[in-house]
Amino acid sequence: MDFLALRNLHLLTIAVSLGLFLLRGYWMLRESPRLQDKWVKIVPHANDTVLLAAAIGMLVVAEVNPLNQPWLLAKIVGLLAYIGLGTVALKRGKTRAVRIKALIAALAVFAYIVAVAVTRQVIPGT
Ligand code: HEM
Repeated sequence: MDFLALRNLHLLTIAVSLGLFLLRGYWMLRESPRLQDKWVKIVPHANDTVLLAAAIGMLVVAEVNPLNQPWLLAKIVGLLAYIGLGTVALKRGKTRAVRIKALIAALAVFAYIVAVAVTRQVIPGT
C-alpha cells in the first residue's frame, strides 16, 4: 500500500472512530443497554487497530522515526490518553459524573490530536 492509500485509510478510520465514540458516549449518557451489544465490543477496537496500523504503515513507508518528530510523539501520547479516557468514559468510570468528565476530556484530547496533525506542532498555533 502506498503512502496516500495509508493516509486515506488513516483519515477514514479516524472519522469512524469519532463517530462510534460519539454514539457510545450518547448511549452511556442515556444509560442504554445497546452499549453492551456484541458488535459494540468488537467493531470500534478493530477500527482503532486499523487506524494505528495505517499510521505505523505511513511511518514505515516514509521511513520516519516518530522519536525524531515531536508532533508524532505528541500524537502517540494523545492517542494513549484518548484510549484511556475513553475506557473510563464508557466502562471503567464508577460514577456518572466521572464518566461524563472523562467523555469531555477524551473529546478534547481528540481535538488536540487533530490540531497537532494539521499543524504538525506539539502546541498548535505557536
Ligand atoms: C486518534 C488519533 C489520531 C487522529 C485523530 C489523527 C488525525 C490525523 C489527521 C487529521 C491527519 C491529516 C493531517 C493533514 O495533513 O491535514 C493525520 C495524518 C497523519 N497521522 Fe494521524 N491521527 C491520529 C493518530 C496518529 C498516530 C498515533 C500516528 C503515529 C505516530 C499518526 C501519524 C500520522 C501521519 C504520519 C500522518 C500523515 C502526515 C502527512 O500527510 O505527511 N497519527 N492524522
